[in-house]
Amino acid sequence: MNILAFSGSLRKDSFNTALLDAFVAAAPEDVSIERADISTLPLFNEDAEAAFPQAAADLKAKIRAADGLLIATPEYNRSIPGVLKNAIDWTSRPYGDNAWDGKPVYVIGASIGPVSAAIAQYDLKKVMLYLNAHVLGQPEFHLGLAQGKFDAAGVLTDEDSKGYVRKALEAFVSHIRMVTARPS
Ligand code: FNR
Repeated sequence: MNILAFSGSLRKDSFNTALLDAFVAAAPEDVSIERADISTLPLFNEDAEAAFPQAAADLKAKIRAADGLLIATPEYNRSIPGVLKNAIDWTSRPYGDNAWDGKPVYVIGASIGPVSAAIAQYDLKKVMLYLNAHVLGQPEFHLGLAQGKFDAAGVLTDEDSKGYVRKALEAFVSHIRMVTARPS
């Protein structure tokens, strides 16, 4: 099983990127989790769709080839970061060629506050539902007060959170199996 993972933060020491690394570390042998690069995409401009950017076309192909998509979003001003929305907008276009259609998706998030990106996660779930992705509802994944849960190298060290990551990944793998086993 092949999962493509998106971090909504471009920051080098991002907790959301480090959280994805914790999912990678928890993955069983038959599950591979690869990080998507959204940093090279141009700013979305509908005029540019006619000469579709190669970086966006490549990302769409990776989304379509993946069995599932894992998205870790920070919360910026109670919503998702612009860089993440930019990537979603490119990969949903041109109209009628939305790469997220029918894909199993799991939304997770980390923040330094106690709200743990919950509001941003709900905004992202709304976007994913509109794009007809199969969004996993439970378990919700909230990593609040993230600054106390990783070591200086960005490794998740909080034992409760590590258990939470293992259970969440198991649930997502089951969700992917259920969605992909459905007749189309
Ligand atoms: C934030 N932060 C933040 N946190 C939160 O819980 N709710 C919020 O609405 C916001 N708003 C916000 C806006 C902007 C522009 C920034 C830069 C930050 C703090 C945020 O949780 C913190 O910076 C995280 O560390 C961002 O995630 P990464 O980069 O560590 O993955």
